[in-house]
Amino acid sequence: MTRYSVARVTGLNHRGEGVGRITGGPDEGLVVFIPGTLPGDLVEYSIVERKKNFMRGRVKKLLESGPGRVKEVCTVASRCGGCTWQHMEYGLQLTWKRRILEDALSRVAKITDCEIRDCLPSPRILNYRNKVEVPVAEKDGQVVAGFYEPYTHKVVPSEDCPLEHPLSREVVSRLLQKVREERYTAYNEVTGRGQVRHLISRVAPGTGERMAVIVAAIHRLPHESRVAREIMESTPGLVSVVLNVNTEKTNVILGDKERLLGGRYYIKDLFGDDELGRLVFRISPKSFYQVNSYQAVNLYKIALSAAEIGPRDLVYDVYSGIGTIALFAAKRSGFCAGIEEVGAAVRDAIENARQNGIDNVVFREGKAERVLPEISADIGQPSVVILDPPRGGAEEGALRSIARQKPRAIVYVSCNPATLARDLLILKECGWYPRWSWPVDMFPMTPHVESVTLILPR
Ligand SMILES: C[S@@+](CC[C@H](N)C(=O)[O-])C[C@H]1O[C@@H](n2cnc3c(N)ncnc32)[C@H](O)[C@@H]1O
Repeated sequence: MTRYSVARVTGLNHRGEGVGRITGGPDEGLVVFIPGTLPGDLVEYSIVERKKNFMRGRVKKLLESGPGRVKEVCTVASRCGGCTWQHMEYGLQLTWKRRILEDALSRVAKITDCEIRDCLPSPRILNYRNKVEVPVAEKDGQVVAGFYEPYTHKVVPSEDCPLEHPLSREVVSRLLQKVREERYTAYNEVTGRGQVRHLISRVAPGTGERMAVIVAAIHRLPHESRVAREIMESTPGLVSVVLNVNTEKTNVILGDKERLLGGRYYIKDLFGDDELGRLVFRISPKSFYQVNSYQAVNLYKIALSAAEIGPRDLVYDVYSGIGTIALFAAKRSGFCAGIEEVGAAVRDAIENARQNGIDNVVFREGKAERVLPEISADIGQPSVVILDPPRGGAEEGALRSIARQKPRAIVYVSCNPATLARDLLILKECGWYPRWSWPVDMFPMTPHVESVTLILPR
């Protein structure tokens, strides 16, 4: 029989889960993390996971609401792991994003005298995600698509997520309809059987161009060309339909092989505003592109103005993706070099430079930690380094290499305060110190914290 306890939630952890303490019994005083709660809530909960130093609970009943609790806009919000902060008023989300960043810097990197700015609100808090990526599964004899329940690979069927850009969601809805009509089967992670694993779509908000990607566990889907043609005919702006093949038993979504089923391999976006400037970007299925284009404009403005880049600067954009930051930096500086490991993204970046008529830029393909030590011999030492690594942060070798090249400023764009703090500790050892850190809300309704940090020599 499940045992329920009662806890008052007093804070949020770095994953955005409510933090309470167990009262009574042998576990008295132990911390319990309860997703879906916020500070001030009084909840009845059951333990779903026991670890050595903490437990994880699930809300049974909300007895009292803490300040700032609001009604979720989505019907599956309490079960879906996609946006776990829908129950928090937006101002409270921003306050906690700032606090999560501050906490990571002070606890992990022991940095307490860096100015932490207020979190910049996103221009849109709903309908902002330009990319929709959903796993498919079989439920009651029908293929469904949705989101994983928190900490599981159990799909919660959802055909309408309020965070997604409607143009992007529409593509996924049509793909799902086709999957059902053609009687394709859903891939089963346990048995390794089934045809379709994920459905993905992207929209370029600046042009309305759309892309559809079917991730399959087999090399060919029956009638795939006809299916692609029919979807394109019925979806305005859909200029690219791609089949990605992933035959591995893995959590990684995209496989190595892909084939064009219709249209072209990329979509084009027109990105920017009067202050940042406007550039055209080509985006391929495997290339990274910021999912919240509306706020990415502000993120880039903050990153570029942090180092006061001017015509005499040589800028390195490390982890450069399709060259977004690099090309805006090239417009302001003498020269810019982008470093990126995904070949498709580098090819996009080179084409993007050409399309925008920018010739004071180069892109190198490879891991940053390998390319950084050798690139300065070719093009010189940078005066400014902007780095924007993935969630895992930067490699220690890359950070030490950047520090050795003695730029006048380092600007660190991070999507994970924990790895940012770890990396700041390494840079601190090398004599570099963060002056300010500015959280920029790229992911409303979720606990993800993006930030820009200006780091200068001591
Ligand atoms: C957060 S994205 C930033 C991209 C770009 N700055 C933007 O805003 O669109 C991180 C990028 O780093 C690339 N990447 C990941 N690990 C890398 C590594 N070790 N060396 C070079 N690039 C890497 C990824 O492919 C991805 O394009």
